[in-house]
Amino acid sequence: MDAFRANPQRYDSLMTYKKCGNSGLKIPLISLGLWHNFGGMDSLDNHKELICTAFNAGITHFDLANNYGPPPGSAEKNFGRLLKSDLKNHRDECVISTKAGYGMWEGPYGDWGSRKYLISSLDQSLQRMNLDYVDIFYHHRPDPETPLEETMGALDQIVRSGKALYVGISNYSAALGIQAQKILKDLGTPSIIHQLRYNLLDRSAEARVLPELMKAGMGSIVFSPLAQGILSDRYLKCIPANSRASKVNFSDLNKTFIEDRLPLINQLNALANKRSQSLAQMALAWCLRRPEVTSVLIGASSAEQLKANIDCLNNLSFSEDCLKSIDKLLSQEAH
Ligand SMILES: NC(=O)c1ccc[n+]([C@@H]2O[C@H](COP(=O)([O-])OP(=O)(O)OC[C@H]3O[C@@H](n4cnc5c(N)ncnc54)[C@H](OP(=O)(O)O)[C@@H]3O)[C@@H](O)[C@H]2O)c1
Repeated sequence: MDAFRANPQRYDSLMTYKKCGNSGLKIPLISLGLWHNFGGMDSLDNHKELICTAFNAGITHFDLANNYGPPPGSAEKNFGRLLKSDLKNHRDECVISTKAGYGMWEGPYGDWGSRKYLISSLDQSLQRMNLDYVDIFYHHRPDPETPLEETMGALDQIVRSGKALYVGISNYSAALGIQAQKILKDLGTPSIIHQLRYNLLDRSAEARVLPELMKAGMGSIVFSPLAQGILSDRYLKCIPANSRASKVNFSDLNKTFIEDRLPLINQLNALANKRSQSLAQMALAWCLRRPEVTSVLIGASSAEQLKANIDCLNNLSFSEDCLKSIDKLLSQEAH
């Protein structure tokens, strides 16, 4: 593949940047996650095309975790390679995040939220990406067995040691997120961002998490805004070949879950078409309509998907009527 040339117009594109909560850090309305498609078995050329397409469209935020792959750790390694080969002159234009909180290595110290795990895991992530620091380090999920003070104390220590510039939490409830924020604020390292699932098929975060964490000063970056691809026109008739759903079987991405929702997906698709958008574009715009949402964190298996999704920025506004129609469809589904 040719050497990467950054598009000189990348900051004149449709992309805009929004502050993360009360912090001074701005992230793009669309961020790219490396959970899938960046592992050891995926094509290196495709990795490069995805990252370069994103960067050239003004996507400055790349989200990783210690365990992304498979095998775990390989997404960080592959991203580290691209940073060295293609983005080496652009490190200061990127917000790179990683996380720890799920099982990463054997034994009692490779999972959850102890100081021991978080600090060693970040050291390993930095080594894999060949970085001195990440921009955001997250605790990936709450740990019921470790005192919150210890987990948050580890995040504070990580910032003080210069290995992360900011910290965040992921998959926390509103109540626990507020407690975590209070501890971190008292320590002098506030959590600037919460990473959570939010999409047309799962709007549970609207009740408390989104509004309450915004009130506490945190930004929200929402993952799986396309429900892992289900909210796209590929799923109008059946589970398409070569889609994520055809390859893996997650508890939240199983055949029955999808098949039960095909009528809803078709109705949402018709609404999107009335807006002259694809379903995926409407699904992203719908998440971004909430003032609490700082960025939608998308995945993509091809540069074409990524470009099409970025085009959602051409139409982010919704009429009251359209929002009501969407609400009606979603509430029928809930019953
Ligand atoms: N904190 C956490 O616990 C947590 C959990 C999950 C995810 N995340 C983060 O969030 C990121 C995004 O999650 P996600 O990958 O589930 O997001 P998503 O955007 O909901 O799903 C991405 C997948 O949808 C399909 N897709 C995307 N655009 C499409 C289009 N225009 N038309 C048709 N299909 C399309 C592709 O799958 P196929 O083409 O392969 O079918 C793509 O890989 C992850 O990479 C990770 O960084 C965090």
